[in-house]
Amino acid sequence: MCFFLDTAYSQQRNYFEIRDEWLKQIQQNKDRVDLLSLGFSTFFLSRTNRSGIIKGGVIGGNGQIGKYLIDCRFNKKELIERIKTIAAQKKNIRLYKKDAVQLIAKIQKEADITNTIFYFDPPYFLKADSLYMNHYKKHDHDIVSKKIRGIKNIKWIVSYDNVVDIKRLYHGYPKKEYSFTHTAGYTKQGQEILFFSKGLIQPDVAPYDPTFFRLNRKSRKIYYRKRRTRKKNNNTLV
Ligand SMILES: C[S@@+](CC[C@H](N)C(=O)[O-])C[C@H]1O[C@@H](n2cnc3c(N)ncnc32)[C@H](O)[C@@H]1O
Repeated sequence: MCFFLDTAYSQQRNYFEIRDEWLKQIQQNKDRVDLLSLGFSTFFLSRTNRSGIIKGGVIGGNGQIGKYLIDCRFNKKELIERIKTIAAQKKNIRLYKKDAVQLIAKIQKEADITNTIFYFDPPYFLKADSLYMNHYKKHDHDIVSKKIRGIKNIKWIVSYDNVVDIKRLYHGYPKKEYSFTHTAGYTKQGQEILFFSKGLIQPDVAPYDPTFFRLNRKSRKIYYRKRRTRKKNNNTLV
């Protein structure tokens, strides 16, 4: 995978050519191509398409206008490093390919409750039909929240788009609201929310921003920082 990534540029071809090839020759012939090509094509498209959706259209549009363009999430060096970091942990990673509801029951049984935290990133509540092939309906969000809230003795975090219906489902649980720029459909500031199981300790930097942190590569510790905001009146950063 890293080799594919590394040579994606050295062939002196532009992103559009590569993208076209991945879409036409590989994604449209999924059943016939080899797994590595399919994997890399999916990876490439997920980094250069809006919201990482295979059929989502290219970031920046065909005209490549605006602040965020096709390569804004395709930092080759950083991506290679991430793949290597994941590969180094492969013994600790298990893929279950299960529906969320069945998965919750299974992992709860298997988990070491003293040293486990579950992170759930369910499909978005809004615009789900344009983002996913098999999208969740309101009823599915209800069911999955019931299952998550019913988890015993194991800590968890859930992330969602910040909407009233979802806040209702997780009412009474500690939460953290934040925003970040994303490219679902068009570039915009997404309002997001995290919910925490009761008793889960949150960073003691107040107010912290989950998207604004630094990883100390040596100690593998994450340090959260307060986001610097620009004061309107005197233009000084605080
Ligand atoms: C918000 S995305 C998660 C993205 C992922 N955390 C990431 O950073 O790439 C929601 C994911 O839930 C998956 N999904 C949809 N329905 C599901 C189901 N019934 N059970 C499990 N996963 C499902 C979607 O395929 C999608 O990948």
